[in-house]
Amino acid sequence: MTEAPLPPAEPPAGKPTSAARSTLSRIMTVLDTNLLGTVHGGVVMKLVDDVAGVVAQRHSGGAAVTASMDEMVFLQPVRVGDLVHAEAQVNWAGRTSMEVGVRVLAEPWNEAGVPPTRVATAYLVFVAVDDEGRPREVPPVLPETAEDRRRVGEAEIRRAHRLARRAAILQSRKTATP
Ligand SMILES: CC(C)(COP(=O)(O)OP(=O)(O)OC[C@H]1O[C@@H](n2cnc3c(N)ncnc32)[C@H](O)[C@@H]1OP(=O)(O)O)[C@@H](O)C(=O)NCCC(=O)NCCS
Repeated sequence: MTEAPLPPAEPPAGKPTSAARSTLSRIMTVLDTNLLGTVHGGVVMKLVDDVAGVVAQRHSGGAAVTASMDEMVFLQPVRVGDLVHAEAQVNWAGRTSMEVGVRVLAEPWNEAGVPPTRVATAYLVFVAVDDEGRPREVPPVLPETAEDRRRVGEAEIRRAHRLARRAAILQSRKTATP
């Protein structure tokens, strides 16, 4: 007996931006410092990658891997004793990839009423993967506020630049003389 063909896969339903928005917080200790005594940039990058991974996993409903991290900007030094918050959300979702935006804030752990300062910003691309590590489809992101919509538009500009840069470099390698 021949089996009936499977119906075409349903496109994944959209998810609102707020569904995956996440924050990770951590107090910086002497183990996190560089030789200048401030917090090592790699410690902040790890927190950024961790929170972005949480967001990508929540939005895509499964495993997702970091494909790229760009525009990691350090605005202010982070100090021992700072309580650091990494806040992240999906800015844009494509077929299998997502751009996650991360904002990092720091506040002294022991001073009440001091507003958190923005210390870093980053944009990462995550790709949702199946059990074999192959890209799998992700739901569209449904922006809920004017700010979410602005982020979608700006993420599309960054994606166009990433793809154009990659294509230009590949083209230049093809035409470069050894
Ligand atoms: C990320 C990975 C799964 C992509 O695999 P791939 O075979 O290149 O996949 P594709 O070419 O089909 O691209 C899949 C999607 O990722 C996007 N993508 C791939 N590489 C990218 C990059 N460097 N920057 C931005 N987007 C990228 C593609 O545009 C595509 O997006 P879309 O489906 O939304 O249109 C693969 O490169 C990988 O496993 N990398 C290692 C990831 C990892 O281990 N991270 C942790 C580092 S310790």
